[in-house]
Amino acid sequence: EEIPWSAEMATKGGYPHFMLKEIYEQPESLASTVAGLEWAQLSAVADMLLSARNIYVLGAGSSYHAGLTFAARLPRLRLTPVPIIASEYYTYERLFDRDDVAIAISQSGETIDTIRAARAMRERGVKVVAVTNVVGSTLARESDVVIYTRAGPEIGVAATKTFTTQVATLSALYLAVLKAVGVDTSELERELKALPEAVRKTIENTAGTAKDLAKRMKEKRSAYYLGRGLSLPVAMEGALKLKEVAYIHAEAYPAGESKHGPIALVEEGFPVVFVFSDPDTREKTLSNVAEMKARGAYAIGVVPAKSDLAKKLDFPVEVPESGELAAPVTYVVPLQLLAYFAAVERGYDPDKPRNLAKTVTVE
Ligand code: AGP
Repeated sequence: EEIPWSAEMATKGGYPHFMLKEIYEQPESLASTVAGLEWAQLSAVADMLLSARNIYVLGAGSSYHAGLTFAARLPRLRLTPVPIIASEYYTYERLFDRDDVAIAISQSGETIDTIRAARAMRERGVKVVAVTNVVGSTLARESDVVIYTRAGPEIGVAATKTFTTQVATLSALYLAVLKAVGVDTSELERELKALPEAVRKTIENTAGTAKDLAKRMKEKRSAYYLGRGLSLPVAMEGALKLKEVAYIHAEAYPAGESKHGPIALVEEGFPVVFVFSDPDTREKTLSNVAEMKARGAYAIGVVPAKSDLAKKLDFPVEVPESGELAAPVTYVVPLQLLAYFAAVERGYDPDKPRNLAKTVTVE
């Protein structure tokens, strides 16, 4: 029997869309990124961070969310990060000074908001460390230090493999900071090396469930994505993906803050996606699950496999255990898949969302 074939299918490696291909490529892109890490460079950046007066974490969209996964970890080391959405940099401009360090994150290295912010920082003497996927990009050329992710080219407008490789790279940087202050990181290093395999397993175990969930979400007009602590940036990224490609209004909120207003919208069947990637905030998040369910919410949860959490939710998506360092990477995977399948279910092309460009070069 003849297999239908088109040139387009060939470029997509047999996948119906680039977005799906790129989601499935994550184990490989993470493996290249982790293998390509330059530990001497990371340790030099760690020293810069430890002696900085202010630490800025800068980016737009998904890159900003990746930055938040890093920023949320620094207070454990008594470091105070200032996360900055690139287009809002001027609010902080008066702070910029020569003793400061910025981590500027942009997969393309061409996002004008991020470039303008990085320029404003450098003008005032801030050392800018770029995290980018594109060699020789504007941001790379204009930064003091460049850390490359090795995701390979990303064609889909929605960031998937570039996001997870950013998070992995920033996790490695966090690990370098831990090392610099004398913490034994051997266990975390093993976790980082195991990340590609953890993601492969997560895709394998969650793709079917994400597809089922997408069918249930198909007719919904709106959803909340809730998480606490390190789960919050993962929830923010999940909500952005759903908006971007499936055109379903999705709003991420700190779970505890949801009772200060957002809960007013919740009625029978309103979907709320709870992210349980952060082991430290699980108990507290469960109380928000109960609150939401009491209002009739349809409680979806991205939860650790083999835990009791699944029982507390209407629709659990179980993520294989991979450790705390890896969790922001593995837990976002089913949310990427949900957005992808929801777009397809609703009849949209996830590779070319309306009104969006891969790289935003206007302010
Ligand atoms: C992500 O899915 C979006 N396409 C968008 O938010 C993107 O992350 C943002 O525009 C930043 O792009 P950059 O990483 O190339 O700077």
